[in-house]
Amino acid sequence: MSTTETRTIIVTGGSRGIGRSICRTLAEPGAVVCFNYFNPADPEGEAAAAEETGRIIADAGARAMSREVDVADPEQTSSFFKEVVEETGRIDVLVNNAGITRDTLLVRMKPADWDAVINVNLKGTFNGIQAAGKVMMKQRSGRIVNIASVVGVTGNAGQANYSASKAGVIGLTKTAAKELAPRGITVNAVAPGFIETDMTAVLPEKVKEAMLSQVPLGRAGTPEDVAQVVRFLASDNAAYMTGQVLHISGGMYM
Ligand code: NAI
Repeated sequence: MSTTETRTIIVTGGSRGIGRSICRTLAEPGAVVCFNYFNPADPEGEAAAAEETGRIIADAGARAMSREVDVADPEQTSSFFKEVVEETGRIDVLVNNAGITRDTLLVRMKPADWDAVINVNLKGTFNGIQAAGKVMMKQRSGRIVNIASVVGVTGNAGQANYSASKAGVIGLTKTAAKELAPRGITVNAVAPGFIETDMTAVLPEKVKEAMLSQVPLGRAGTPEDVAQVVRFLASDNAAYMTGQVLHISGGMYM
């Protein structure tokens, strides 16, 4: 489908932060923007945040659909995507954005913290690609954008689980790009640097300062900085790009 106005879009982890900004940016009049969210530590707060994202999508003239769905669970993911296809008949764009951190030095890292981060960030991305890939293959079209991270390329002390998950997302992106290209589906990744969201708000001031000192552009990124690049990769303008990783880090990595 070439028009952006009737597209069905799925964004994982759309209730807050970068995911919400991506929902807002892709919510063109006539589009259907479907997103999920999951936060066992604060289910009510997360549902309220999701409602707010829904309002933002509707204000932009698009239709919103949201569900509490854990991306780490293949059954929940595939039944959510099936519901989207039953409602709208297609999936044009999938943005695998849902992600978590459980930071600590690797010698102290509990197996449960390793598993949780790999299951959400890496397996969750696989679950999304598998569920949407089948639909997109039948359509012979589709755009998949995965949210990786600069630390998936550089590594980062205290983030063994997270950086491994994001490096995995980059390898997965390239393999999916090769497998799905013959069906007209592109798969790319973005690698954000230090972006101001709830995820980074919890970092100690000293860590934030140290990160900022490594950013040539001299400021933290905004969710909008990421969303605009995702929007490009999800558009017809990026038709001849696949398997690529675009860094959005103010020059942190070059
Ligand atoms: P955030 O913590 O503000 O929001 C996370 C979102 O993911 C929420 O909507 C939450 O409901 C959802 N989520 C978490 N676990 C989930 C699960 N199991 N199933 C479904 N949804 C789930 O995070 P932020 O900062 O907006 O991050 C978004 C993505 O960008 C993540 O993949 C993160 O790793 C990546 N990223 C963030 C950077 C930053 O500096 N904030 C830098 C590089 C990458």
